[in-house]
Amino acid sequence: MQIRKNLYLVSGGIYGQLGNVWMIPHEKGCVLIDCGSPDSYQTICRNLEYWGYESTDVTDVLCTHGHDDHAGSAYLFQKNGAKITVGAGDAVMMRRGDLGEGSPFLNHKMPVCIPDNLIEKDCVINIGDLTIKVITVPGHTDGSVLYYLEKDDEKWLFTGDMFCCEGEKGDIAVTWWKGDLNYSSEKLGDSFRKLWALNLEPNVIAGGHNNPRIGEEAKDMIMTAYKYYMLNNR
Ligand SMILES: [Fe+2]
Repeated sequence: MQIRKNLYLVSGGIYGQLGNVWMIPHEKGCVLIDCGSPDSYQTICRNLEYWGYESTDVTDVLCTHGHDDHAGSAYLFQKNGAKITVGAGDAVMMRRGDLGEGSPFLNHKMPVCIPDNLIEKDCVINIGDLTIKVITVPGHTDGSVLYYLEKDDEKWLFTGDMFCCEGEKGDIAVTWWKGDLNYSSEKLGDSFRKLWALNLEPNVIAGGHNNPRIGEEAKDMIMTAYKYYMLNNR
């Protein structure tokens, strides 16, 4: 599904798959933000093909975190030549192919993948003609990151599972699953404080699940999510 002129949703709940996968074309191919569960690989490839791309055109997979419904197909894209980026704190999950030693969520498995690029701190990634800011936001997992892309008059914030929009009008924002071994309410609070202080003004909030929120009021979802955290996660 085309969301904006240069932003596509190529897997996720609207396709019967777990975890949103966003595709952004650039001058040398395309980037995926997250790559869904291992099961979603065929869905992603079918949608890439529909929009005129091959799976080998994926130059980079930027994972918001290491959970199997976001990084599960990373190995398959890496085999096709894509570079895999993830927060350093979550690399262990991808290297093991599960949620870590001691996790009771034994059904959360993915093919082992050795990431190419580990994010240790806030930075900027340049891919083709794209400039993507990476903001570290531990809490949902230790290695959670947000990606923020400004292009033409567009500003897109990819929030992974830090928070997602929901509700019939998309005006509710909720923090996501708390089942990770390293989930930390305290770190999540610090990350919300950091995000709030950045005063970002995205016109698209693209979460790891559910629908995106698009338009001038999309930026208000940062405050809505922060309030949700204050009321429910501390
Ligand atoms: Fe997650």
